[in-house]
Amino acid sequence: MITIYPKLIHDALATVRYPGNGKNLVEAGMVADNLRIDGMKVSFSLIFDKPTDPFMKSMLKATETAIHTYVSPDVEVTISTESRQAARPEPGKMLPQVKNVIAVSSGKGGVGKSTVAANLAVALVRLGYKVGLLDADIFGPSVPKMFQVEDARPYAEQKDGRDLIVPIEKYGLKLLSIGFFVNPDQATLWRGGMASNALKQLVGDADWGDLDYFVIDTPPGTSDIHLTLLQTLAITGAVIVTTPQQVALADARKGIDMYRNDKVNVPILGLVENMAWFTPAELPENKYYIFGREGGKRLADELGVPLLGQIPLVQGICESGDAGQPVALDTNTLTGRAFLQLAAAVVRQVDRRNVEMPPTHIVEVKK
Ligand SMILES: Nc1ncnc2c1ncn2[C@@H]1O[C@H](COP(=O)(O)OP(=O)(O)OP(=O)(O)O)[C@@H](O)[C@H]1O
Ligand SMILES: [Mg+2]
Repeated sequence: MITIYPKLIHDALATVRYPGNGKNLVEAGMVADNLRIDGMKVSFSLIFDKPTDPFMKSMLKATETAIHTYVSPDVEVTISTESRQAARPEPGKMLPQVKNVIAVSSGKGGVGKSTVAANLAVALVRLGYKVGLLDADIFGPSVPKMFQVEDARPYAEQKDGRDLIVPIEKYGLKLLSIGFFVNPDQATLWRGGMASNALKQLVGDADWGDLDYFVIDTPPGTSDIHLTLLQTLAITGAVIVTTPQQVALADARKGIDMYRNDKVNVPILGLVENMAWFTPAELPENKYYIFGREGGKRLADELGVPLLGQIPLVQGICESGDAGQPVALDTNTLTGRAFLQLAAAVVRQVDRRNVEMPPTHIVEVKK
């Protein structure tokens, strides 16, 4: 039987390298000063920067092996872990200072989700609310271009013992997009898990602060990202964007089913009919129903959800989106007013929903 003393343990720990920086555990300052030795029982903690350190498990194993090799195979080792940084809040407890989370969605791509999400967010600011906009379209982010902040590189700030990403501020609202962090061509090579993780970081590791409305621009279709959102955030309600064509309406139904089924119970705040009619710039009073008339209204009635607004197809919406100046900034225009009315309708529905229905619960992850 040998006598174990602290230096023996420290020497063993000095043989273990932490792959994150190539230093040994002692040099890297990863050994806490709570070493306890009681006969053949040894306990101490290892300190990691983050509670999610990818090497944590392998380091625990390597440390135990080093003690068994260099001290004695009979040592009973107990290692606990500490982290310098506080953990991200659990799913469902993120964004405690955000009053309402609104997901802008559709079954189909290209119907104007990003346009509606961006302009809805801007219009809510015009109505006097504190607003955040999250671009959750990992593979085709739109926010950087629509707000002309393609070159923005958000930095992190220390707050409450954590490194938090600081959202970009533009036109009075807070913005984050995965597009600020990765080039979309590379994002397409990502595995689903990586995209989900990136999204959780944008929600849970960012300093969103106090907000009345947190608007999320979701990716097209029904993807892993939607599931991650439902598992991460208690979504107050979903706004479904559709266009009047028959096929888009069928897709809107798909979009709605994603939020309303036996596992998910996110209330549908209502439909937005985008490109409801065409209005040429030189004839602003004229309405041409090129995709059919009243399709959005009919679908809303059929599904028993409100029609929150109708947005015309006008060249200006597309141009201003490309130029980084959402049309909702100018409430003197026809389209600016349409988005202001939409925002007011969303506020009414959210208020109603909050009175009439219990808070949303996140979808539990099956282990
Ligand atoms: N009401 C409108 N009038 C004119 N152009 C519009 C209108 N709504 C959207 N657009 C244009 O249509 C294109 C697609 O819109 P947008 O990117 O908002 O759709 P999306 O549903 O977010 O697409 P994706 O599914 O790819 O994310 C954009 O170029 C946008 O500027
Ligand atoms: Mg989009």
